[in-house]
Amino acid sequence: PDLRLAPDHLHRGEGTFLSVVHCQQPSCSLTFTARCTNMNPSVPNRPCFLASKSESIIHILSHRRYMNTVEELKREAGKTACSFVRDGMKIGLGTGSTIKYTVIEIGRMISEEGLEVIGVPTSEATKELAESLGIPLSTIEKASPLDITIDGADEFDPDFQLIKGGGGALTREKRVAAKSEAMVVVADDRKQVTTLGAFDLPLEVGKNDWQRVSAELQEFCPGQVNLRGGNSPYVTDNDGYILDCQFGSTITDPASLENQIKSIEGVVEVGLFIDMCDAVVMASPSGVSTLLKQGGRLD
Ligand code: 5RP
Repeated sequence: PDLRLAPDHLHRGEGTFLSVVHCQQPSCSLTFTARCTNMNPSVPNRPCFLASKSESIIHILSHRRYMNTVEELKREAGKTACSFVRDGMKIGLGTGSTIKYTVIEIGRMISEEGLEVIGVPTSEATKELAESLGIPLSTIEKASPLDITIDGADEFDPDFQLIKGGGGALTREKRVAAKSEAMVVVADDRKQVTTLGAFDLPLEVGKNDWQRVSAELQEFCPGQVNLRGGNSPYVTDNDGYILDCQFGSTITDPASLENQIKSIEGVVEVGLFIDMCDAVVMASPSGVSTLLKQGGRLD
């Protein structure tokens, strides 16, 4: 059911509300006290949030709706993340099939609601999409620091550490996220893991370095190290190659692993995003949840 704020919400400073939320479906008696950090009262119909605190994560159920296909999950996660978007923001626009829906929604908010934002794309593909939707764009050099980056992920763990780079854009994605005051990930629930590594860890490497880097990695990577694209290698927007490393679900200390890999000459970037993500907007078949990292920059 669609959940709406009761009219008697209590303003607790800019953009933050303490509200009573109830479900308006006749058969449903759900009532929650909610802290709505992302509601912009000047823009109607933004999603409202239900909050409950667990040990390290604030779990917010933004709406419950039964979804069947992965594409539907991606669309709902991508659109819901726009509740973090406000007028005047400079926004890092990630890459991938989930964030695509965020970009499309931002385009809609610009044309239909008069939203004014500047986007910084993390790939040529996102740049093209954003341009086609009339989103004003800038570069990281000109626009930094950014207010927020919204991006996809291939895996996230309970500490909000990420594997990224499935789409090959990890280097620019990391640069943009590093220059942002907060990072929100959009994902479906297949991306949530207890230990990182089931998804092959992508690295960007110099074109002339991949064989040597690969041999060095093989000394401590428990599985194979594969050149993406094989005989017709995938070439990144930075004119590099991608190595996909089969660590399996063994990455219990992603920060150390990142340092170890980065010390190999020829590695341009590692697809481990450590202490960068502040929230995950996650869609599952039963609804969309926003997981806020406790003590993170959006908490
Ligand atoms: C691109 C990425 C993507 O954000 C990641 O692969 C997730 O993509 P998708 O939403 O298509 O699953 O890191 O480099």
